[in-house]
Amino acid sequence: MKLSRRQFGTALTGAAIAAAYGRPGWAQAPIVVKFSHVVANDTPKGKGSLKFKELAEKYTGGKVKIEVYPNSSLYKDKEEIEALQLGSVQVLGPSTAKFAPLGAKEFEALDLPWLFKDDATYDRAMKGELGKWLFKKLEPKGISGLAYWDNGFHMVSANRPLLETTDFQGLKVRISGSKIADRYFRDLGSIPQIMAFSEVYQALQTGVVDACENTPSNYVTQKFHEVQKHITVSYHAHLQYAVIVNSKFWNGLPADIRTQVDKAMAEASDYTNSIAQKENDDALAEIKKSGKTQLHYLTDAQRQKWHTAMAPTYKWAKSRVGQDVLDLVAKELDIKMN
Ligand code: LMR
Repeated sequence: MKLSRRQFGTALTGAAIAAAYGRPGWAQAPIVVKFSHVVANDTPKGKGSLKFKELAEKYTGGKVKIEVYPNSSLYKDKEEIEALQLGSVQVLGPSTAKFAPLGAKEFEALDLPWLFKDDATYDRAMKGELGKWLFKKLEPKGISGLAYWDNGFHMVSANRPLLETTDFQGLKVRISGSKIADRYFRDLGSIPQIMAFSEVYQALQTGVVDACENTPSNYVTQKFHEVQKHITVSYHAHLQYAVIVNSKFWNGLPADIRTQVDKAMAEASDYTNSIAQKENDDALAEIKKSGKTQLHYLTDAQRQKWHTAMAPTYKWAKSRVGQDVLDLVAKELDIKMN
């Protein structure tokens, strides 16, 4: 296997350590796999990546060493995608809202507001034709999709209650990357702004932005709830990740090792998807208990008004993500679209 300079450097360090402990050195040096992500360890994705590390190292008998870099400690949002393409990092789990720079805007269809009725509906769609079709879009870019990881539904927050659609007027809202999210916040009269995840807390604290959307596990681990006086538990859109790898690196792994890391990934994915909902329920309970913010819930009438206000995003989406993926989403979810 060909190692890049960076991988070579890390493998050498591994060998040096092994030699220092009196074990056979160079020939035994583990294959180092760097897994970079932007959230805390104590989140569904954080726990999933550590589970993958534990299982992959166990199943390969230490022939593979997974280095997990959480909290943007190695790369921030945009940089990590570039790093994956360059081979400086081997595994990522970005939100699918961040895939446009990879030339795969179709993933943004998943950000349509009020799209998935519940987590089970989301899960079925990603395990079906839709999930597979989207992964095919990555292949020409030298990227392979291994799994989808769930992180539940978005809430939305600001320093004023967000209940009526008019409450959004003029708010500067941080979004993570998707133009679909950009569009639905514009439908509500807000001014969305793409910003790296690692910069959000400070931007909220200093008023660079007024508002944001995210899932309870991300709010609590980043302390967003401490700098937002009001959170609406709207669950208006879904947050999902695609675990992606550099195809050349992954396909170049020795066959026996590849089988074991694929097995580790499949099990880590089941684990992550099985804990996502509870992690978010627990996080929401923690936010409530903290007393640092006020939680709000929409009435049916208010929710209906949000639906209506955001509906133009569905029409607009065709020009952004294309009709093919919208047709597929409609088919998988058995809904009428446009
Ligand atoms: C965000 O940027 O808000 C999220 O995508 C972060 C994450 O990975 O959950």
